[in-house]
Amino acid sequence: MSNYHIKHLEEYWQVYRNSVRNPENFWEEIAEEHFLWRKKWTNVLSWDFAKPEVKWFEGAELNITENCIDRHLATRGDKTAILFEPNNPDEETLHITYKELHERVSKFANVLKSQGVEKGDRVCIYLPMIPELAVSVLACARIGAVHSVVFAGFSSTALATRINDCDCKMVICTDGSYRGNKTIDLKGIVDEALKSCEGVSTVLVAKRINSEIVMQDGRDKWLQPLLDKADTVCKATIVKAEDPLFILYTSGSTGKPKGMVHTTAGYMVYTAYTFKNVFQYRESDVYWCTADIGWITGHSYIVYGPLANGATTVMFEGVPSYPDYGRFWEIVEKHKVTQFYTAPTAIRALAKENLDYVNKYDLSSLKVLGTVGEPINEEAWHWYNDNVGKKNSPIVDTWWQTETGGIMISPIPYSTPTIPTYATLPLPGIQPALMDENGNEIKGNQVEGRLCIKFPWPSMARTIYGNHGRYRDTYFSAYKNNYFTGDGALRDAVGYYRITGRVDDVIIVSGHNLGTAPIEDAINEHPAVAESAIVGFPHDIKGNALCGYITLKETGEGRNHDNLSKEINQLITDRIGPIAKLDSVQFTNGLPKTRSGKIMRRILRKIASKDISNLGDTSTLLNPEVVNELIEQAGL
Ligand code: WTA
Repeated sequence: MSNYHIKHLEEYWQVYRNSVRNPENFWEEIAEEHFLWRKKWTNVLSWDFAKPEVKWFEGAELNITENCIDRHLATRGDKTAILFEPNNPDEETLHITYKELHERVSKFANVLKSQGVEKGDRVCIYLPMIPELAVSVLACARIGAVHSVVFAGFSSTALATRINDCDCKMVICTDGSYRGNKTIDLKGIVDEALKSCEGVSTVLVAKRINSEIVMQDGRDKWLQPLLDKADTVCKATIVKAEDPLFILYTSGSTGKPKGMVHTTAGYMVYTAYTFKNVFQYRESDVYWCTADIGWITGHSYIVYGPLANGATTVMFEGVPSYPDYGRFWEIVEKHKVTQFYTAPTAIRALAKENLDYVNKYDLSSLKVLGTVGEPINEEAWHWYNDNVGKKNSPIVDTWWQTETGGIMISPIPYSTPTIPTYATLPLPGIQPALMDENGNEIKGNQVEGRLCIKFPWPSMARTIYGNHGRYRDTYFSAYKNNYFTGDGALRDAVGYYRITGRVDDVIIVSGHNLGTAPIEDAINEHPAVAESAIVGFPHDIKGNALCGYITLKETGEGRNHDNLSKEINQLITDRIGPIAKLDSVQFTNGLPKTRSGKIMRRILRKIASKDISNLGDTSTLLNPEVVNELIEQAGL
């Protein structure tokens, strides 16, 4: 029996039991057989969730790019590693072979070195989905620098916060980016951000849209001439198993974004293993994940997981609606994509359009369909299954998080029978637990609770950059000796898990995690605003949309509400990005509060969702009259 590639359900159970009975042996065997180590570990795992401290493969030394690139050169040198599909379908597809990737990464790494980047330095990457994004990520890893990719849809303020939080000395960007029929002035956003980032001494600028931009003397450098001069060989810097590989920011329910720190060896082993199994990857497959590398899904399942397996991974620059709603399916047909991994919000958006957009294309190459990022509703699941998979490709509903580094709960296609809306079973090595409100584990089946993980897994984030206390408080304090996910889940009669959604103040809008606090902070900056509260409400494409309840200062009363809403949304766009804009705004005389002054979001959520059937006891509120006022205002 091979632990590495599961092919039927019975085997899954065997492997799973084995992985739980003896996790260290389980992961050690996988690590030994499938990766290139410069030095073996002395200890597979040490852990203490109270501190919290987790170390995998301690004592080992490696470089992840040797695993993702160099070791494939002998057998797969001419195989396409990255298949780049540009925004504009008339522009040519780019096939970057493993050999070419090796050369590109080596050159880029030499450029980083020539610009003074050293092992352990943080480099901010703010790029659209073009090959330079994957290449620069790998170039950082090549020399042991820590990449911090910021999704290129974030605003200048959000970018600056992230650059400063982890003290980046360099930013890598483009002159601009394409998005459907629009262009975006990325360099302008970087310039604005850097007004408040003193630590950044160098900006490398790749050319993408050939726009006129201002280059700041001494700081800004065009990338291409530096690459042209760079040596094609760059010896990999060997790092320790627990050296940081990257930082990636995720929203919390309060405070500034959390810079999740992922380390090298465990992350590599886990993403490679899960990629192989969850997508049932085979050598000649063409795998496509539509996420952006600015999110964890792109890190783990566009770059590291696929490349560690020597796969061909598609990188798509564009959007599903350009030039029309058939774009995804056109690409699937053109490249005979075998695994297709996307977000429920994209499926819902496409399901609204004419079916001809799907039926026009030959999708028979598909073997596995995946979803990630939020619960998938039953209707979207069936649409995906019927029209894209033609009932022939199992859907893997993969549950995981930026913090978990890799997929945690998911069917293994062709092994685990799937049920719509169920992420089904934990992957080998993953030990979920459901907790009640008193912190006790709820055992048995047909139960619902808060989802925790009892035992460490190799790709878990090790800390929040610069704030270990926050890491402990957020994830390890609610339930003793458990990692708390922030999600609720139920376990059905056969032990399948269904994720029911966040139980904290994080709202998932179109698959993007948004914390309420930073949005409220942005709104409260408006001079007319006294106070605000954000809640999510169901939206048929985005999953959730945002509703803002806003009270005005005396000076703001009498102002035109439409204009105010526009100004507030502009503030949110400036501070965070357009993804955090409010779909609905209600100006009100007060917000429902507990006697200790805490806003009762539960009530606001109900009103925003137009479901006031079960508001619970409101008499203990400081200001119960506000509730009726809000209900009336909402016309309920
Ligand atoms: C949610 C994305 C239901 C969940 C990889 C989680 C899901 C958060 C699923 C993490 C799924 C992700 N079903 N909910 N299959 N996948 N989520 O950090 O609430 O962007 O905690 O990582 O998305 O989002 P993040």
